[in-house]
Parts: sequence; C-alpha cells; structure tokens
Amino acid sequence: MHLLTVIDHPDPNSFTAAVAAQFNNGAEAAGHTTEIADLHSEGFDPRWSMADIESDRNSKTPPDILAEQQRIARADAICLAFPLFWWGMPSMMKGWVDRVWAWGWAYDQLDNPEKSLQKPRTGVLLVPAGARSDEMETAGYLQALETAWTKGTFGYFGLSPRKIELLHGSTGSAKRRRALLERSYAIGFSLPQPGG
Ligand SMILES: Cc1cc2nc3c(=O)[nH]c(=O)nc-3n(C[C@H](O)[C@H](O)[C@H](O)COP(=O)(O)O)c2cc1C
Repeated sequence: MHLLTVIDHPDPNSFTAAVAAQFNNGAEAAGHTTEIADLHSEGFDPRWSMADIESDRNSKTPPDILAEQQRIARADAICLAFPLFWWGMPSMMKGWVDRVWAWGWAYDQLDNPEKSLQKPRTGVLLVPAGARSDEMETAGYLQALETAWTKGTFGYFGLSPRKIELLHGSTGSAKRRRALLERSYAIGFSLPQPGG
C-alpha cells in the first residue's frame, strides 16, 4: 500500500513528529511505501476562506487544495498525526480536514456518514495526549472523540477501517515515551488493508 502521513506540529523534533516517523518506519518495514505531508513546514493555510466558499459555489477548487487532494488520491492509507489539544484537533489539522475533504469531492450527502465519494482507505489517527486513559474514559472524552471522529467525520471521507490510536501519557517518563514510540512502530507495521 501507499501511505500518506499528515503531521500537524511546528517542531520537527517534537514527540508527535517522532511517533509519526516510527509509524512510517513500521509501515515501510511491512513493505508499504510512505509519504509525509508536514503541514507546518509546507506552509499550509488552514483558514477556511471566501475562496473556499466560492470554489464550492463554482466547482473551482483552489490550487492549494487541489495539490492536497492529488496526494490523497495517490494513497491507499492515511495517517493523521497530531497532539490532542483541548480534546480535539489542533488548528492546522482541523483546517486541513475542513478545507481539503470538501463537499462534492469527499462526500455529497449528509444522511449516511458511512457513504463517501472516495475509495476506501485505511485510516489511522495517531494522537499523543497528555492525559491518562482512565482519566479520559471516566470523564467521557474517549467516547466523545469516537462519536465525533469515528462515527461523525471520517466515514464521510471513506476511511475504512479507521481507528483512533491515542498515545496516552505522552508527556510522561522517558520509559513511557519509548513505549509509545514502539507502539507507533507496531501500529504502522500492522496496518490493515482498506475496506475491511
Ligand atoms: C494547547 C494545548 C492543549 C492541550 N490539550 C490537551 C487535552 O485536551 N488533553 C490532553 O490529554 N492533553 C492536552 N495537551 C497535551 C498535549 O496533547 C501533549 O503535551 C502532547 O504530547 C503534545 O505533543 P508534543 O509532545 O509532540 O509537543 C494539550 C497541550 C497544549 C499545548
């Protein structure tokens, strides 16, 4: 498979960048080809603008969005790597999702969140998070993310199967962080085929 890993982090030496690299290493070891979209270093503009609205009206896709859609078109699997910020996506990733996976290209209906205009692609959300898993579970955040992302967003984009991989305790000890890096490699190594 060809894997596209999209990263939202301004620091190339961040933990998020390291887990994305380990994930890609695992995928390559399993025989997949990989490509990285580093949204900050590439200067992606996450602001949904009047140009986006007009392109929606006139069916004329802005050139920066066309380029993003072209690299998605090459991919059989997509990984979004970003830190959990306020129980959601940081702004760069949020803007990339809002602008790139547009009505008429990704989906053209709202009644069925499992229906997409896109071919099935394996989807992984690789998400470092400061909180512990029991804290997130007890407070209901895990369920909230499953509802908003797995149920309510990524089916429209054709991501199937799709999984949220929360890397809990990402600000913890060196041992903890090493374990999360190893887990990221293992997730990349065992990527399922699309459509499952
Ligand atoms: C603005 C901001 C908001 C954050 N919100 C959350 C949050 O809602 N839940 C959580 O578990 N961690 C939260 N964190 C912690 C980050 O997810 C964690 O520090 C992560 O490891 C950051 O990625 P990095 O280590 O690659 O910089 C937040 C951090 C920042 C800076």
